[in-house]
Amino acid sequence: MLCIFKLKHDIRVESKVRIARRELEILLGSGAFEEIATIPALFKKTPFSLLDDEIIHRMSRLTYLGGVQGFLAEVPGLTELKSIVERSTYFREVYCLEIGGNGELHRNYGGIARAGEFVDVSPNMQIYKQNLEDGGTLLILIAFPIQTLMEYAGEVLKLPYVTFTKHIEDLGERLTVMEKGMEKGVEELLEHLRRGYRRAPWLGLYKEHIGDYVDWAFSDFRTWGLHFIHKHEGKADPWLAQSALNIALPEGKGVVLDPFCGSGTFIADAPLMGVNAVCVDVNPLSALIANVKCNLHRLDLGEVREALVAIARRGGSKAFKEHSTIKTAIDEVSSGLTRDFLYVMLSRQIGRRGDVYAGFIEDSIYFYLQAYASRKLMEMLDVEARGSCTVICGDVLEVELPQVDAIVTSPPYFDAVDYVTPVSQHLKILGLVKSLEVVDVRMLGSKSRRALSLRGLEELPPSAGEVIRILRFKGRVEKALRILQYLLDMKKALEKFYKTLRPGGRAVFVVGRYHHWRVGSIDLEIDGAKIIEDLGETVGFSFEEELQHNISKIDPGDRVKEEAVIVWSKSETIKPAPSRSYVRERTEIKGVKRLLDFLNNID
Ligand SMILES: C[S@@+](CC[C@H](N)C(=O)[O-])C[C@H]1O[C@@H](n2cnc3c(N)ncnc32)[C@H](O)[C@@H]1O
Repeated sequence: MLCIFKLKHDIRVESKVRIARRELEILLGSGAFEEIATIPALFKKTPFSLLDDEIIHRMSRLTYLGGVQGFLAEVPGLTELKSIVERSTYFREVYCLEIGGNGELHRNYGGIARAGEFVDVSPNMQIYKQNLEDGGTLLILIAFPIQTLMEYAGEVLKLPYVTFTKHIEDLGERLTVMEKGMEKGVEELLEHLRRGYRRAPWLGLYKEHIGDYVDWAFSDFRTWGLHFIHKHEGKADPWLAQSALNIALPEGKGVVLDPFCGSGTFIADAPLMGVNAVCVDVNPLSALIANVKCNLHRLDLGEVREALVAIARRGGSKAFKEHSTIKTAIDEVSSGLTRDFLYVMLSRQIGRRGDVYAGFIEDSIYFYLQAYASRKLMEMLDVEARGSCTVICGDVLEVELPQVDAIVTSPPYFDAVDYVTPVSQHLKILGLVKSLEVVDVRMLGSKSRRALSLRGLEELPPSAGEVIRILRFKGRVEKALRILQYLLDMKKALEKFYKTLRPGGRAVFVVGRYHHWRVGSIDLEIDGAKIIEDLGETVGFSFEEELQHNISKIDPGDRVKEEAVIVWSKSETIKPAPSRSYVRERTEIKGVKRLLDFLNNID
């Protein structure tokens, strides 16, 4: 079957297109496919020149504006196609063509297809038939990837018949109206996509129709499942999560470990992909968020609803003026996961101004409905979460890890981020720690972890050793000792991960690419990705590739804009990490200076 994989129109950065290509390569088991620069240009060539206006209209609608609009690939059969539809991240639609004969499309759908009509073969697949002049038939299968539908489902929350319900005072009644609105919206969404409405989306006020929202919503603002349930320092890009899992586990099954899981972004979709996950974080708030986010499929929505209604009936804002009173009410909820969900909702209110209770209830409703939308869509698509997720709260250097088939993670990036101070109030109010220091001292890269001497430096690869030497030479002895401790810890962690990974397994590490340290008037730019790659090699990992991933953040600011996705494997054939210079020194006067000059100076 010849298939067009059409990229989502709202991808914001080109690096995602390269990741989409890599992901498709993995899912197809081959890189032998073409890039489509412009979809409309395809219609000049056979067999696409045979297509009628109905299909051309659908295919050329909302195409990606970057350098490539999709990929053209030969897919062996329907089983392979379904697996891509279940697992891919960046495609809006897939179109598969088959002309006459005894191919899979004709055998499976030839009987139900009707000329010039879109016939549903499942809620996310349709078959379209064209009778050709030579008497043959052309069948086209259109499929919507699950991930794309999950993203769109979140948009349903914006519909007027879900939003305009604030006048309903009783929370139970309000939720009932909203749930009905969600059900109607999810059905309308699928219908909209299947029918391919032609009317132009309405951009002004009083939007009403689902198409007014879905087509024009940018992916950066989309929030599906529970991916955006709580802020987290260094949170990964949720669009990278599923592709990283695909790269790590080409077979799509097994056990994956995220040893620095933070809020659980990489693992959140694993159960839905049929993958079992184990994740670890030393910060109890991170572990709490990850537990809720990754166990969406186990969350008893009836129980969440009941608990919320019960809290609401106890007196509203007057009865719940403080975080602590809401916390006490949540403590009484019997089920662990429902309780954790509500703690996360309460944690969202900490540090915010305004009515704590009102914020708590509105956020709870919002995320309850997000979970409700995902659940409804999964039911309609007959998709089950076949994987499980276990979250361990502990120091990864100390906890016992199971044998795993893959590792996907984003570790602390040198000493760049303080993971404890911004959430110290949250940890205290939720009663998650006795003392903040106990958590901080176990945090890799934390200011509380510092080597006592330079012993151990010789165990590190030259790139790491040189960075320490440079810091010392520049008089930053404290910093040198902290970075040394971080690198020694990271090496120990990598050794442990290597042991826990089965032979032949892959590890995918997402790290910030550059790191800037100000030393006097000099800006040292450290290629941290290169140092981590070299560290991985010293513990036995074989370097496979490094993919670039640019982040498109809504808020600018000095966050890391470029990430490196490092892919290692545990095998006998070691390919050396790419050789490149890993430190650059910039001063206002001298401009860019390379490491070699530096070392000459030292000597
Ligand atoms: C870059 S963040 C991970 C963010 C995560 N991918 C997300 O999307 O939220 C790194 C995480 O490593 C955790 N961490 C640091 N030291 C640790 C240790 N010794 N054991 C386990 N986790 C640790 C931090 O608490 C932090 O949540």
